[in-house]
Parts: sequence; structure tokens; C-alpha cells
Amino acid sequence: MLDWDHNAYYHRLLLGHLPPDPSRVLDVGCGTGGFAAELAARAAHVDALDRSPEMIEQAAKRDLGNVSWVLGDVLTDPLPGRDYDGIFSICALHHMPLREVLPILSAALRPGGVLAAIALPRLDLFRESHVELAAAAGHRALGAAYLTRRRLNGGGGFFAKEPAHDAMPMVLNPPLTTREVAREAAVVLPGVRVRRLVFWRYLLTWEKPAG
Ligand SMILES: C[S@@+](CC[C@H](N)C(=O)[O-])C[C@H]1O[C@@H](n2cnc3c(N)ncnc32)[C@H](O)[C@@H]1O
Repeated sequence: MLDWDHNAYYHRLLLGHLPPDPSRVLDVGCGTGGFAAELAARAAHVDALDRSPEMIEQAAKRDLGNVSWVLGDVLTDPLPGRDYDGIFSICALHHMPLREVLPILSAALRPGGVLAAIALPRLDLFRESHVELAAAAGHRALGAAYLTRRRLNGGGGFFAKEPAHDAMPMVLNPPLTTREVAREAAVVLPGVRVRRLVFWRYLLTWEKPAG
């Protein structure tokens, strides 16, 4: 009951990284398409990619005119487009080897385009115990506040988990700590920024150098 959707909580943070007037953006590992739908309200066209047929079937029910729901594996299938203004991903990068996926995403961006992703880090109590404590306390406090708001409003929202949430493909033991992600990503994306977010995620952002 007090649980809530940490991925949805970070949608706004990622949307803040959209470049102005984006014409074409990509969502990698779109799941049931909630974030792609938010991108579709801001970009002329969205390619939303997932390797799970069940996820793409669910997502396509959204029936949005400017979204292409694409069944495919980002590591092995050709991407639906290129020269993207922005590439986004929520909770999918830890499903795949970073050193394989980052060059693919980098190549698919236009110069000046932006990559912004959140994903799960491996637990790193040595460096991040203070964040873990804040996350545990904040999760309960915000969970109680969101539950109250939902009850008062007589409905959903306030980061309620969608019914299909538990059917999403998950990786419960992410392979890399935030620090390891930063180190691996820097090999492929010079100038990349990686930082730990409170609620059990990291944020990776990179702007492809112009020219
Ligand atoms: C935990 S779910 C997150 C879904 C969605 N982004 C969200 O925030 O609700 C991770 C998704 O990444 C997809 N995925 C994992 N590896 C992938 C790959 N190599 N290519 C495309 N999609 C992938 C999975 O099928 C799954 O739907």
C-alpha cells in the first residue's frame, strides 16, 4: 500500500533533459510505454523500443499517433531511426552490458543530441550508505503522503504503480555500482555525468559533441 513507482517519480527529471523542439527521440526499453507517452507530448516523433513482445503489445494500446512502438533488441537489431535529438531510457540499461549499448546509443544521436538514462546501481554500502538511509526513510514518508493524496482524490496518480508493473522484465541484481557505471561510461562517452539518485537509481547524462 505504501509502495510507489520510483521510475515514474523520475520522469520529470529526465524530461528536463529534452533538447528544445525535438523532432525525433528514442526510448530504450519502453516497457508499457508510460514515459514514451510523456515524450510524445513534447517531441514530434517518438520511437519506443522494447525486446519484450508482451510489453510492446501493452504499450501499443496507447494508440498515440506520433509514437512507433518497435519490438527489438537494442543490442542486436537495427534501431528504427538515427540522428536522434534525444535518447532516453528508464530502468533498462542495467539489463545489458554498458560497453556494448553505449556505443550504439552514441552513434544514433545527432551531434549536440542528448542521452539521459536512469537505471539501477548495485548496492554500494561503503560509499552510499547515507543515500540508502535517506531512501528508506523517504520511501516510507512519501509513500504515506502519496497514499493519503490518492485517498483524498478518490483515485490513482501520485506515482501509483500501474497494474502491469509486476509483469515487467526485471533484473534484481544490477551488475555495476554507480561508481563502476561512471567509470565504464567514461570510456565510451567522454564528459559523461553519472550521479546517484536517492531512490535506488543512478542518472547518466551525456551530450554528444557537436561536429
Ligand atoms: C524494468 S523494465 C522498465 C520499463 C519502462 N522503461 C518503465 O520505466 O516502466 C525494463 C525494460 O527493458 C527492456 N529491455 C531489457 N533489455 C533490452 C534490450 N536489450 N533491448 C530492448 N529492450 C530491453 C525489458 O524488456 C523491459 O521492458
